[in-house]
Amino acid sequence: MNILIIGSGGREHALADKLASSPLCSHLFITPGNAGTALLGTNLASDISDFDAIRKLVLDHEIDMVVVGPEAPLVEGIVDYFAREASLKKVKIIGPSAEGAKLEGSKDYAKAFMGRYNIPTAGYRSFTQKELNEALDYLSSHPYPVVLKADGLAAGKGVLICHSKEEAQYEIREMLSGKFGSASATVVIEEFLSGIEFSVFALTDGDRYILLPEAKDYKRIGEGDKGLNTGGMGAVSPVPFVGQEVYDKVVQRVIEPTIRGLKEENIDYKGFVFFGLILVHGDPYVIEYNCRLGDPETEAILPRLRTDLVELFDHTWHGTLQKATVEFDPRYAVTIILASGGYPESYEKGKIITGLDRVAGSRIYHAGTTQKGEDIVTSGGRVMAITSLASSIEGGIEQSLINAGTIHFDGKYFRRDIGKDLL
Ligand code: AMP
Ligand code: GLY
Repeated sequence: MNILIIGSGGREHALADKLASSPLCSHLFITPGNAGTALLGTNLASDISDFDAIRKLVLDHEIDMVVVGPEAPLVEGIVDYFAREASLKKVKIIGPSAEGAKLEGSKDYAKAFMGRYNIPTAGYRSFTQKELNEALDYLSSHPYPVVLKADGLAAGKGVLICHSKEEAQYEIREMLSGKFGSASATVVIEEFLSGIEFSVFALTDGDRYILLPEAKDYKRIGEGDKGLNTGGMGAVSPVPFVGQEVYDKVVQRVIEPTIRGLKEENIDYKGFVFFGLILVHGDPYVIEYNCRLGDPETEAILPRLRTDLVELFDHTWHGTLQKATVEFDPRYAVTIILASGGYPESYEKGKIITGLDRVAGSRIYHAGTTQKGEDIVTSGGRVMAITSLASSIEGGIEQSLINAGTIHFDGKYFRRDIGKDLL
């Protein structure tokens, strides 16, 4: 099978690594990819929101399977486009339809969906631009802190936690008048939940599903979870505080009703569901759904997957996931992100990366990297992910930290505390 991965981050490099290792993969293509994916297949330049251009790549390179990494093309309807185009109908595309991707693309839609299936989540109300006065009223009697969420995709920046009525009323005005463009034309005002967060990932064919291991992400830029939100600065899998009892509750209260809901509403969903969860006094609540794998969670989860991922995707496409069995490496995976100095605010690009040839005992997944002549240089905020597998979290942390020191580029920044809260 010729396989095309859409995307260019660490998640896509980890997917590329896994797919390239399958005997079912003849040739791997990645669009647009990065300097790491170029070592595993052929990078093809493209604008991933230009579906006509993607169609041409698929036909030119006789692609049999397309795996969509990021959310934007899914929310924009790439799966529906493939279903409509006669020349693409046979291509196995892994990802939900636009309707399914609304679980991530519209917080208001996701909250209403959870309401219909009694899936535990924070209490909420949504307000549109026309309802500013109602929103201000609502906030005047709401307990604090309160959470304001832009309804649409806002590059991970659309969630604000406000600690006072004054702050929340100021922010809701800003949001409803376009702080996040059309993404905040509707705002979800949500009850603040206090607890520990973790994520669970399912792969579904729209009827059955298989579960991937859970992971914990470290979203803040600073050690001790301080400072600005980022795409994610590290991840650990498995998560020690998620025991069998919690896991069973997640399956019964969250995953089963979600998959049942997709089916009952005839939503075409052949892809990943990412459940962002928070554990409150031992009970899981959904913070968010995403319609794809997480980044950097993927870089911690996929190295633990022993099952052939192409085979799993094939079952997903054909609706035969009930035949699939999944096996995991029981060891811990600890992933540390190396970022450009300044990230998640402005940062410089084009810094030469050295030391990659001296890395031992970890896997390196490129994110913001590009080949420039003989050199690999930085081209993004999150530059690469270092994942180490070990029988203890300590062992994984130690190995990833050693290699975080081995790799060098000007301005390199990473958190030294990833996983330490779990010891
Ligand atoms: P999201 O973009 O939906 O992942 O939200 C970003 C972060 O905001 C989450 O990872 C949580 O840390 C926090 N958050 C979102 N919703 C809530 C909530 N209802 N209560 C507490 N924290 C929340
Ligand atoms: N790491 C969080 C995300 O991928 O959304």
